[in-house]
Amino acid sequence: MNSRRKEILNELGLSPQWRIKSGNIENTEQTLPPESNAPNQSQVLDMNWQQLKHEVIHCTACDLCQSRTQTVFGSGDENADWLYVGEGPGAREDAIGEPFVGPAGKLLDNMLTALGLQRDHQVYIANIVKCRPPNNRNPEPIEVKQCQPYLVRQIELIKPKIIVALGKVAAQSLLGCNENISSMRGKLYTYSEIPLIVTYHPAYLLRSLQHKAKTWEDLCFAKATMQLLSE
Ligand code: URA
Repeated sequence: MNSRRKEILNELGLSPQWRIKSGNIENTEQTLPPESNAPNQSQVLDMNWQQLKHEVIHCTACDLCQSRTQTVFGSGDENADWLYVGEGPGAREDAIGEPFVGPAGKLLDNMLTALGLQRDHQVYIANIVKCRPPNNRNPEPIEVKQCQPYLVRQIELIKPKIIVALGKVAAQSLLGCNENISSMRGKLYTYSEIPLIVTYHPAYLLRSLQHKAKTWEDLCFAKATMQLLSE
């Protein structure tokens, strides 16, 4: 991080408070069954984009690989300033291999447009887990843990200026906490020194329209933070 950004984050009281549950990563080996095909943490953390994509396509680290049609790696600008992180692929994403291409994705596209952004320009979209959980259930903690090195490496490669966590699963997994979404909204967190803002998941907004205004507030907060950091 450049020193000006560091200074601003310090002024905002944002010396790192939250980090991805690094304990999870370090402890991964201990809690996995011996036969697991867990991604090798240190190898993944050395991979370039091509190697990482190849690793994810062939991943069999958890049971989600058995029911997936294909993995959903993530997509967008690999040098993006903005990283949006969802929970995991749904049915359409599983069929097409791209994140957020169903109805929730349309809403996400509209939110990006409202912010003056487009999904392939300065924006990268990824998920906590790369395979669809059956029946759109939440990913299990072991699935999140197994998939975590991939997202960690994606973030290292992208080096986004801001991360927007879409929904509770994304926020809790990235921040390593159990707080509910309403208490996480409106706060500025950091993930590995990158500012992180939490908002509702677009699929939730499709069911609870009254939360759209709050999401807009969150996105404006994210944009203002970005502008401050870009000065
Ligand atoms: N919901 C998510 O969390 N991610 C997707 O890619 C699609 C729907």
